Amino acid sequence: MTGARILDGKATAATVRAEVRERAQGLAGRGRAPGLTVILVGDDPASHVYVRNKDKAAHEAGFTVRTLRLPATASQRDVEALVEAQNGDPAVHGILVQLPLPKGLDAERVIARIDPSKDVDGLTAHNVAALTLGRPGMRPCTPLGCIELLDRHGLALEGREVVVLGRSMLVGKPLAALALERNATVTIAHSRTRDLGAVCARADILVAAVGSPRLVQGAWVKPGAVVLDVGINRLPDGTLAGDVDFEPARERAAWITPVPGGVGPMTIAMLLANTLRSAERAATPSAAVL
Ligand code: GUN
Repeated sequence: MTGARILDGKATAATVRAEVRERAQGLAGRGRAPGLTVILVGDDPASHVYVRNKDKAAHEAGFTVRTLRLPATASQRDVEALVEAQNGDPAVHGILVQLPLPKGLDAERVIARIDPSKDVDGLTAHNVAALTLGRPGMRPCTPLGCIELLDRHGLALEGREVVVLGRSMLVGKPLAALALERNATVTIAHSRTRDLGAVCARADILVAAVGSPRLVQGAWVKPGAVVLDVGINRLPDGTLAGDVDFEPARERAAWITPVPGGVGPMTIAMLLANTLRSAERAATPSAAVL
């Protein structure tokens, strides 16, 4: 047994980012560089790392980036006012409010303030509905990154059994909808699912997005399956682990993402891609009426 081939998210993301950078240069040459605002409230250490990575990647792509930080003591009004100021700024094409927000703040109400055309996270009700209805709209970055990773490795979804572990608004639900849009047969499994192992074992494409270190055992992986591990879990010894028990899963799968270096870098690449699209649309007068 040679083991699965690695789905290298880092390398694929670098390709996507280079493509985005080239198109961004075209816009910048016309004085219309893509603009991204990232809003970070409070001091969650993981969020600080994620935001720093997004800020750096957007700079490297030639975007105009604003990272706006508010203290954990910020009020609901403070955060919503900041979002609205970005809505009104024509140089801003993408607004991302890093989640989770500190306790006491209502993330849903903050997200509802984001102009759907700048909602590069695809989390507003408008964009969630668009995905469900199969209409154009902004799609969430992590699910989009999973699909892009499959596409760029020639791994088809049509007719395949896709099992998504996790039902979050950021990953599980939108990923299931995207896979369905691509004519996969989709199952969403979660913490109340009975016999999780048996459900996972049906999957041609297994996506783990629950935030539970090494939950998915090697024996749950169908031989020849594609395994996408969305989990990024910090273990007590400081190391990172995904939601999949990597080594035994690798023995059975045909393709598998590592953690780190798998889905994570794709999330950032798709954030840039969504922001670029929004900037391109803003620069095209005829698109404004669509
Ligand atoms: N926190 C963890 N992942 C994400 C993401 O994709 N978007 C936002 N806004 N917050 C997150």
